[in-house]
Amino acid sequence: MTLQNSPSHAPTTTWDAPQTNAPLDDRWSDLIQHDRVHRTLYVDPAVFDEEMVKVFGGQSWVYLAHESQVPDPNSFLSVRMGLRPVIVTRDRKGGLHAVFNRCAHRAATVCREESGTAKSFQCPYHGWTFRNTGELVGAPWPSGYGELDKERFGLTVVPRVESYRGFIFGTMNTDAPPVDEWLGHARPWLDYWIDRSPTSEVAVKSAAYRMGYRGNWKLAFDNAGDGYHPAFSHRSLLEMASRMGDSKDMSYFGKTPDDGPMKVYSLGNGHSVIDQRPVYEGPGSFWANQRPQPGRERFEEKVRAEHGDDADRLLDLAIGAQINLSIFPNLLVIGNQIQVVEPLAVDRTQLTWHATSIGGVPDEINTMRMRSQEDFPAFGEPDDQANFEEAQRGLAAPEAEWVFMNRGLDTDWQTIEHDGVIRSAVTDEIHMRGYYEEWQRRMRGAQR
Ligand code: FES
Ligand SMILES: [Fe+2]
Repeated sequence: MTLQNSPSHAPTTTWDAPQTNAPLDDRWSDLIQHDRVHRTLYVDPAVFDEEMVKVFGGQSWVYLAHESQVPDPNSFLSVRMGLRPVIVTRDRKGGLHAVFNRCAHRAATVCREESGTAKSFQCPYHGWTFRNTGELVGAPWPSGYGELDKERFGLTVVPRVESYRGFIFGTMNTDAPPVDEWLGHARPWLDYWIDRSPTSEVAVKSAAYRMGYRGNWKLAFDNAGDGYHPAFSHRSLLEMASRMGDSKDMSYFGKTPDDGPMKVYSLGNGHSVIDQRPVYEGPGSFWANQRPQPGRERFEEKVRAEHGDDADRLLDLAIGAQINLSIFPNLLVIGNQIQVVEPLAVDRTQLTWHATSIGGVPDEINTMRMRSQEDFPAFGEPDDQANFEEAQRGLAAPEAEWVFMNRGLDTDWQTIEHDGVIRSAVTDEIHMRGYYEEWQRRMRGAQR
């Protein structure tokens, strides 16, 4: 894979896509076995550099943003696609684009704002100006270039940008399948999550909740589909909740979860989901089992007074969707939130939580959604991040080479549901085995 360095390749696709018939790279088969992965995948900077190209947008689709974050014509949002700084933009007609936030002149970022509205970006370094679709508008004192051929100096564009019901993905791979095909069996789960909104409208709300940890990005992905750890890692949260009331939320992970109704599903293409819904019974049970929230009684009274028989259904929408959907490689849909995994270095990662509101419900429901969305990131996520950092510390020991993902392998837990979707007991590490299969496919150079 090479970036064309001829200045004549801009602003369209400056990416010289690898040949689809190139021989696949077999370096990984010793490092990823059916029940374990080698520590180098978490600690080797060369592996990290390679996956930032291949897994994070070189060949795979990666999540970029939610459409509600670029709501209007000429809106923009600064994001990352792997390590590439990228601006997601809407043109004046509202069409979606993604351009590298990297000046075609001498590489400086052209946009230093997180979000806003702009028809164009002027690079602060020497003043070159680019349209929000990437074309060079002009450079100061152009006679210094003889005849400035603007066609040669646009921003590099992400050649494929597609949205699935508001979720915007991008890839440098012009051969990638359409995004809805690639989402595949994850799509009905995402549909469920979106359609909890009575109007199917979901909006990311204002500022994000960002947390960084000193560990590899894959540690977050290992954990996202892990139904094994909650009873142990989140014990303090569960104990605190039980002291404050009779909340059941998450406590069911501690009671022989393998025999219970919760399941994990391996969905293909590296995606997986944990379904906690079967432990709840009937309308109102999400709400009834949530941990205490400041001031919720007042809101509940109002919703019950004004909506009568419909109150239970509405109150459940204030509580998380009770699925943990992992879309490989960087999108985690947890509760009512969108969490983005942003790798920064082989041992440094940022996790960004975006709270959401929904259409078609009374304001009280969205206010309470906010309260329930503050709960886990504040009280639960630090437990997970401590584990990620401690796992990274443990991974520094070179002689202990393997990370195991064998739980569930020697059992009769798995059943094939349909089209290759595998269902298993919630503590099965099948989510890891599934995403490493996809990781390996991409690292080997697969284009589709
Ligand atoms: S680096 Fe942007 S104008 Fe020079
Ligand atoms: Fe956790």
